Amino acid sequence: MRILVTGGTGFIGSHTVVELQQAGHEVVILDNLCNSKEKVVDRIEAITGIRPVFYKADICDKAALEAVFDKEKVDGVIHFAGLKAVGESVKKPMMYYENNIAGTLNLLEVMGNHACKNIIFSSSATVYGDPAFVPITEECPKGTCTNPYGWTKSMIEQIMMDVQKADNEWNIVLLRYFNPIGAHKSGTMGENPNGIPNNLMPYVTQVAVGKLKELGVFGDDYNTPDGTGVRDYIHVVDLAVGHVKALLKFAPGSGLSIYNLGTGHGYSVLDVVKNFEEATGVKIPYSIKPRRAGDIDACYADSTKAQKELGWVAQREIKEMCEDSWRWQKNNPNGYED
Ligand code: NAD
Ligand code: UFG
Repeated sequence: MRILVTGGTGFIGSHTVVELQQAGHEVVILDNLCNSKEKVVDRIEAITGIRPVFYKADICDKAALEAVFDKEKVDGVIHFAGLKAVGESVKKPMMYYENNIAGTLNLLEVMGNHACKNIIFSSSATVYGDPAFVPITEECPKGTCTNPYGWTKSMIEQIMMDVQKADNEWNIVLLRYFNPIGAHKSGTMGENPNGIPNNLMPYVTQVAVGKLKELGVFGDDYNTPDGTGVRDYIHVVDLAVGHVKALLKFAPGSGLSIYNLGTGHGYSVLDVVKNFEEATGVKIPYSIKPRRAGDIDACYADSTKAQKELGWVAQREIKEMCEDSWRWQKNNPNGYED
């Protein structure tokens, strides 16, 4: 298939482009580079031997989207483009609603204008709020999000459900990711956070490489075995493969589908530190800090539905995730800014 990947130079998008090309699909990337670098296109070409078509364009710019769809005949879209910093979304909610929601409305409208009605959307386990139960199945009710970023995911899901209900030619896949970490085996592509990382793994790797002094562990009094927060960390390449498998649901008449993409295993913050140290031989100094606002005790997936319907199951273990994150960080201490 020929697939338009919005946000295709970002962390998850770039790994997905590699897996798409390696599975024989053709890719057109559209990204405004607000949180990524064009250099990623070179890295994708170096890994796969194929240079994806690249457009520097904003999903909020309807005319630019129209121009891309006029030029490129695509069978469907994988939609990663969006802002994702939880803390920033609390400070700048309008920016998040505008970029993520208005941008997605434009994209859906332009797709409809071009009779392109197949889309996979990057949703998040954040839509479950403080989950009613774990492991979380897709039947778990959606919850109250603790920040505007989370609400954009929840609201876009609702918009897409309504669009599909109104016109059943649409095939829509909502993929709810758990916590993506890891990097491409080559050590040439990985996560490239701006400034001080908010997320656990990039913080750990920056401590390991000496850019940060120690890890702050946000709370040790959660209702979990060691008191620190438990999450379902998933290798970004497994997640990328999940998108390739989800293309199955572009078959006519598929309608709307929702899948959790996680490993089903919960690891605490201290489990991650221990696994990282064992996998890499690098010590991670840490100290216990107060809880971070909005954090929950535990969040991990039941991904049986994706296994049954897409034939997808996460293959990579936590140690491999740590090794791959570390290889990327060590080879690229300043991310793509070398
Ligand atoms: P990322 O920031 O690395 O990638 C997002 C890409 O979208 C960036 O390259 C950015 O430049 C681009 N972008 C943002 N706004 C745009 C716009 N208006 N027009 C065009 N391009 C735009 O983030 P990621 O970690 O790769 O996440 C990809 C998607 O998955 C996002 O929608 C994110 O919310 C979602 N998601 C991420 C996680 C996670 O923990 N990384 C978890 C759940 C869901
Ligand atoms: N943590 C620390 N110290 C840090 C960073 C994180 O102790 O410096 C802890 C957190 O308290 C939490 C765990 O590590 O217990 C994971 O935190 P992350 O920030 O890495 O991930 P979250 O689960 O909070 O959130 C992530 C994404 C969200 C997404 C959610 C569910 O940031 O965008 O996963 O997919 F919605």
